[in-house]
Amino acid sequence: MYLSRFLSIHALWVTVSSVMQPYPLVWGHYDVCKTQIYTEEGKVWDYMACQPESTDMTKYLKVKLDPPDITCGDPPETFCAMGNPYMCNNECDASTPELAHPPELMFDFEGRHPSTFWQSATWKEYPKPLQVNITLSWSKTIELTDNIVITFESGRPDQMILEKSLDYGRTWQPYQYYATDCLDAFHMDPKSVKDLSQHTVLEIICTEEYSTGYMTNSKIIHFEIKDRFAFFAGPWLRNMASLYGQLDTTKKLRDFFTVTDLRIRLLRPAVGEIFVDELHLARYFYAISDIKVHGRCKCNLHATVCVYDNSKLTCECEHNTTGPDCGKCKKNYQGRPWSPGSYLPIPKGTANTCIPSISSIGTPPKFNRIWPNISSLEVSNPKQVAPKLALSTVSSVQVANHKRANVCDNELLHCQNGGTCHNNVRCLCPAAYTGILCEKLRCEEAGSCGSDSGQGAAPRGSPALLLLTALLGTASPLVF
Ligand SMILES: *[C@@H]1O[C@H](CO)[C@@H](O)[C@H](O)[C@H]1NC(C)=O
Ligand SMILES: *[C@@H]1O[C@H](CO)[C@@H](O)[C@H](O)[C@H]1NC(C)=O
Ligand SMILES: *[C@@H]1O[C@H](CO)[C@@H](O)[C@H](O)[C@H]1NC(C)=O
Repeated sequence: MYLSRFLSIHALWVTVSSVMQPYPLVWGHYDVCKTQIYTEEGKVWDYMACQPESTDMTKYLKVKLDPPDITCGDPPETFCAMGNPYMCNNECDASTPELAHPPELMFDFEGRHPSTFWQSATWKEYPKPLQVNITLSWSKTIELTDNIVITFESGRPDQMILEKSLDYGRTWQPYQYYATDCLDAFHMDPKSVKDLSQHTVLEIICTEEYSTGYMTNSKIIHFEIKDRFAFFAGPWLRNMASLYGQLDTTKKLRDFFTVTDLRIRLLRPAVGEIFVDELHLARYFYAISDIKVHGRCKCNLHATVCVYDNSKLTCECEHNTTGPDCGKCKKNYQGRPWSPGSYLPIPKGTANTCIPSISSIGTPPKFNRIWPNISSLEVSNPKQVAPKLALSTVSSVQVANHKRANVCDNELLHCQNGGTCHNNVRCLCPAAYTGILCEKLRCEEAGSCGSDSGQGAAPRGSPALLLLTALLGTASPLVF
């Protein structure tokens, strides 16, 4: 079913790309991998960094529960109404569709009333812990672009850990801890994302913000992706250029938002009181009506299309790259080492295409992009590229090896606000400006701008809003 949808979208994509230049070239969304341009030598291809749209990733995952028989209803059992221990005539019965609560109901359409939800068996074996792992697997590297949101139909759990894997489930790292009492549950001081900064954005925290029992109305738990983006792009994510610049140069930051699997470890259900009511253990269980995960296939900036075929996501690689994540050069295109595309220079980035192997060509092909010497970025001040992030997280070697991109030139990649391009590797900015393309007021960095410039977080003509659309994947004809 998805396949046909993908194919038709793919057909649309092919149509669009064969029409050439469907989008203005000026401020890209990274949504085209190449366009034809006209030069004195005629038509030539211009290659650029590209990525798939951000989309609802829950359509493409596999879910696994541990223990496998933890879903309620087999055998049928009664449970108490949420929050009311004296109404215990609700029934879960896996063999009756109207009374069953299978895991799929976490990912179906919400908006019905009452909502549909997965539900666990009740805590009848108290005091043995009631623990459930819900593992979501994509079998594909994906990049998260929006908050992970989990809606609990009963109370939110007293203790929970969100974990992630980057290697298809072989190893796991905590992403965030959730508890009504972080110190008691995990020996961690409670924090919220708002307590973090650019320097500490990668810190794994325990939060108490989302863990109250029956008594509060909110059913929702967040893992805050956007708040973390905001440390770089500003509170309204206006300065996406700055975020993209950071993602480009700091592998640890990029990896932080990248996963192949997620695991929700439910460790203790909502109790809502200090003591567990042992006479009414049918009050305690987990129930989840919705899980939201927004992201995009990671294609290393070498593809805009990600195909779902045979229950598997695969990037449709351009730039003569190949592999599920476009992570290597095609055969006969190994004329230089593979390298991911780059968001820089804003707005079109750099494709870093694979070029024909020396042996397979007669005369070297002409490329209309320049590949400046690798040593260039090493020389340029890494602080310029990664202004605030703790530099201990990124060695200068990493920075140097990662980028071969032009940061600026005098044709398409202009330094802004009167900056001048120095050797294609950095913009020399007027004293009042900073940022990769001099797009930022220096006083904003220091937080000392006058109040009226405070809202000018995005300079005039900034790509920020357009890039925001690209990143957060709002309406576009190519959403898959
Ligand atoms: C859940 O997964 C963790 C590892 O991520 C494992 O240590 C734990 O035993 C699992 N719990 C259950 C109930 O399967
Ligand atoms: C990739 O290779 C094909 C030939 O197989 C060539 O026509 C095309 O221009 C190449 N693309 C890039 C981005 O180098
Ligand atoms: C790259 O740098 C090396 C040493 O710094 C130099 O010898 C070489 O000519 C440079 N190549 C280009 C294309 O600039």
